[in-house]
Amino acid sequence: MIVLGIETSCDECSAAVVRDGHEILSNVIATQIELHKPYQGVVPELASRLHTEWIAQVVKAAVAQAGLSNSDIDAVAVSNRPGLLGSLLVGVSFAKAFAYALDIPVIGIDHIRAHLYASQIETPLEYPYLGVLVSGGHTVICRVDGYDEIKVLGTTIDDAIGEAFDKVAKFYKLGYPGGVVIDKLSRSGDPMAFLFPGPTLDRGDHPYDMSYSGLKTAVINQLDKFRNGEAEASDVNIAASFQRCAVGILMKRVRAALKDTGLTRVSAGGGVAANSLLRSELKDLEKGGYTVTFPSLKLCTDNGAMVAGLAFRYLQDGYCDDMGLTASSRVVAFKHSYP
Ligand code: KG4
Ligand code: ZN
Repeated sequence: MIVLGIETSCDECSAAVVRDGHEILSNVIATQIELHKPYQGVVPELASRLHTEWIAQVVKAAVAQAGLSNSDIDAVAVSNRPGLLGSLLVGVSFAKAFAYALDIPVIGIDHIRAHLYASQIETPLEYPYLGVLVSGGHTVICRVDGYDEIKVLGTTIDDAIGEAFDKVAKFYKLGYPGGVVIDKLSRSGDPMAFLFPGPTLDRGDHPYDMSYSGLKTAVINQLDKFRNGEAEASDVNIAASFQRCAVGILMKRVRAALKDTGLTRVSAGGGVAANSLLRSELKDLEKGGYTVTFPSLKLCTDNGAMVAGLAFRYLQDGYCDDMGLTASSRVVAFKHSYP
């Protein structure tokens, strides 16, 4: 089965062609990063306008790079929630029109679940496992029993981890996108130069919950203390110290959840799963006998292949949508879904 996957939930305009859920024939990602850079963040109206202009070309390129023509596509999958509504609607409208014209099924895919599934495309991992979903909008530790069976064990109660990276980078004028820049700068910084606080949370039944707003504020206040608001473009020690603490907050919960649940496999996904420190700390779990997988860098951040890959599972099990498919900015997959 050949699935076209479309992803336009934020600032990446992507389309991919995936055969039988595993063979990525193409994965075209047209990034808008340079166009949002002057604003140090994604401008929703600009994002949806650019998707509108680019989507047809991106899909055309994905089909061509796969060495196929439109008539070879068996189904169209599209991220339809959560995300920026205007951006999502561009992908959803295009996917429906494409499916209607070719008389093939269309299916809406939850963007967060697609991130969590991404590593399965390249490195299949047996269920159950501990899922670690870390992106610009979400920070979730969960028990994954199947591609659609996810129980949230812990989540951030305020900022997402990627959001903290982005905001710290913005305040320090380190560059954009923040996560990528901080990761790079940290390599030449001293991670022990600043000892930022981790959260002390009393979350009762939800011991794996996290918080990132306190860390973010502490790092930003550091700027005021020492520089009176004047940022230096190369503050590698701040970057490295922040990154160590941000990854530490997550890894502490991951280790505790592994111990308490008895799960022996771990898989991460989402933009922050591209972080080099997080990848090495996750990999270190293998020394304790755990099996660890995460997607290749291209499949960590937003991409159409993860959408097509997950869609294949749903389609195989007989799920699909109709022309009533629409977009939603809201998280439906994880809210209030504590076990
Ligand atoms: O998954 P994604 O592309 O979009 C969302 O669904 O949010 O994730 C984007 C996030 C941004 O916050 C970005 O700064 C972060 O992933 N990110 C990173 C790295 N690469 C991207 N954070 C830390 N280290 C990285 N190498
Ligand atoms: Zn994403």
